[in-house]
Amino acid sequence: MFKFQATVLFLLFCFVQSSQAQKNVSTTSGELNRRVDSLLRLMTLEEKVGQLNQYTSDWNFTGPITPDNDKIGQIRAGKVGSMLNVKGVEHTRILQSHALQSRLKIPLLFGQDVVHGFRTTFPLPLAEAASWDIEAIELSARIAATEAAAAGVHWTFAPMVDIYRDPRWGRVMEGAGEDSYLGARIAAARVRGFQGKQLGDLDAVMACAKHFAAYGAAEGGRDYNSVDMSLRKLWEVYMPPFKAAADAGAATFMNSFNDLNGIPATGSSYLQREVLKGKWGFKGFVVSDWGSIGEMVNHGFAVNDKEAALLAINAGSDMDMESRSYRNHLVALVKEGKVKEDYIDDAVRRILQKKFELGLFEDPYRFSVLGRQAEQWNKKENLIAAREMAKKSIVLLKNENAALPLSKSKKLALIGPFVKSVRDNLGFWSIEWPDDSLRIVNLWQGVKDKMPKGSVIGYARGCNVNDNDTSGFAEAISVAQNADVIILTVGEASDMSGEAKSRSNLHLPGVQQRLIQLLAGTGKPIILLVHAGRPLVIQDAVAQSSAVLYTWWLGTEAGHAIADVLFGEYNPSGRLPMTFPRTEGQIPIYYNHYNTGRPAAHDNHSNYVSAYIDLPNSPAYPFGFGLSYTQFDYGKMTLSDTLLNSAQKLKMSVTITNRGKYAGKETVQLYTRDIAASVVRPVKELKGFQQVFLQPGESKTIVFEIATDDLRFYNEQLEYIWEPGDFDIMIGRNALDVERRRIRFIK
Ligand code: NOJ
Repeated sequence: MFKFQATVLFLLFCFVQSSQAQKNVSTTSGELNRRVDSLLRLMTLEEKVGQLNQYTSDWNFTGPITPDNDKIGQIRAGKVGSMLNVKGVEHTRILQSHALQSRLKIPLLFGQDVVHGFRTTFPLPLAEAASWDIEAIELSARIAATEAAAAGVHWTFAPMVDIYRDPRWGRVMEGAGEDSYLGARIAAARVRGFQGKQLGDLDAVMACAKHFAAYGAAEGGRDYNSVDMSLRKLWEVYMPPFKAAADAGAATFMNSFNDLNGIPATGSSYLQREVLKGKWGFKGFVVSDWGSIGEMVNHGFAVNDKEAALLAINAGSDMDMESRSYRNHLVALVKEGKVKEDYIDDAVRRILQKKFELGLFEDPYRFSVLGRQAEQWNKKENLIAAREMAKKSIVLLKNENAALPLSKSKKLALIGPFVKSVRDNLGFWSIEWPDDSLRIVNLWQGVKDKMPKGSVIGYARGCNVNDNDTSGFAEAISVAQNADVIILTVGEASDMSGEAKSRSNLHLPGVQQRLIQLLAGTGKPIILLVHAGRPLVIQDAVAQSSAVLYTWWLGTEAGHAIADVLFGEYNPSGRLPMTFPRTEGQIPIYYNHYNTGRPAAHDNHSNYVSAYIDLPNSPAYPFGFGLSYTQFDYGKMTLSDTLLNSAQKLKMSVTITNRGKYAGKETVQLYTRDIAASVVRPVKELKGFQQVFLQPGESKTIVFEIATDDLRFYNEQLEYIWEPGDFDIMIGRNALDVERRRIRFIK
């Protein structure tokens, strides 16, 4: 009887499918829900659980491997809902064809870490954040989505929207830095960029806001480590970018490896059911992180894998990435009455909904068309956008005696382990292609392309990235002696920042510092280029250099972008999205700290105040810092009023003038401080920023507005309120260099 009913329903379902096939995939939500429900009614419990199961392909891995020889068999049996790490249409087509052999022919979802580009690699997300250019960041995600969607990818595990304050954590490269406001703006931009106009369009991929939540606060910056923090801090600092991503319509969320206040995030119903799906009304689905369901046994939160599955599904974790805990135990748990089938249905419904929205039931191969993939391959406009983004990401940290920009008539020596590196330009979480070596523009190429034909450019590698070999020093010195200027590359290899790449020592690795020292001894000016995925401790190197550019890992067009900046064709405009420490001992270091009861009055103040006796409190470079080849002057700030009521808006304006020789872009930053409140407030909080482009001699007036809504915070009861009283308003060029005025908001 059941079999007969199921067959009739299935035929009906197929009819609905084929009559939809010719239509545009966008359907109303009512229609879509009906289609999801009719499919759900056909599914056995085993098939439902199958939809919650995600495996990596065998072509690529991004986590610890679990041997499994029967993935294809399981796909054909309808026991797999999604695959990750399937690169290229050739492969997605093969796996999809297996899924279509299953009883209900439910297509697979293909997910991948498309983090900063796909075919065209863009700068690291942290580097992009240094541009503070929200539109450019959205465009970068848009291009990544277009390229990835044409290669069979439906879903990117990005953006990572974690906030962090510890550069020892290797994953700082993957996010937008330490600030919740900037982080939230960028999170929303990236979601918009990935998802385009709507899911179902052939250039849109589902975004995934990760890692929910507080992964960025891993103790000691050690990856996967525990997090213990007040809920107030969680809400104030770590949640805003997640909320922004949810509001921007992120289709999925990923939970995180860490335990938060004693509960692994993967098993936290507070985070997933209460906050995300409850309070925020999130309609998408939550995927676990790689193996994080099973890892709840290691956390000591579940006695065994079966209990881990129970805790995760009950907590609202919908899809199991690579643990196999759901596959192995959910059916039994439902049959034993330990898990409500409603929870399974809800999770399956959320996943099917996305498959429908993507149009996969109309055509499971619609993202897997060889011709379209080829069309996206070496698109000139994508490379141009990558170069633009890369230029905007570079931060000028020092420029003594206008050492930069360089004149092309100078004799240059290019020295250091990264001058000719190729793959290192891409950085962690980039996707490798066999022809990378032909496509990636390294520094050597970038500079050569810029210099007049026939110029002689000296080159020496000098040393390796991370060993004790000094055999290249002599050559480096002799090359330097024959030049007018040394362009010296130092920093981290691209696999030194990223997942599982925590470092306790943030100084330059290997013998790089010794090389700098020796080259400084030649008396030639050094232009230092720092390639890294995180803030490094570079004070000594900076002291020995005339100019310093933080060049991160800039992607496919790295060499061109750096050369554009070196020779002044682009005036550097990047601003640091993270505070740079003087040394590891200052970590965690961030601009929006509390004042304490005994604040130090200045850097030499350490007697009975909150300070170190052997180190100033101030950072090497503050949040928001970055120089330009030109000089921007700030006029006096004017305020519309100094006493306002809650219905009024405060208007602040400041005139910026370009007093230098070069046209350039300034990022004007607005901070506030709540002077006294029912809970202590940070010494500064970023509330806005604007970028202004000025020709030499030109002035523009920037206007900001603030309302009491912008002054809200979480009080002791976790209510999001503002309190009347005094506030400092600060406008300036970075978190330390501001003009400050006092105002009062009354009820
Ligand atoms: C583990 C990482 O934490 C996560 O960000 C990533 O998406 C998955 N592995 C898949 O590669």
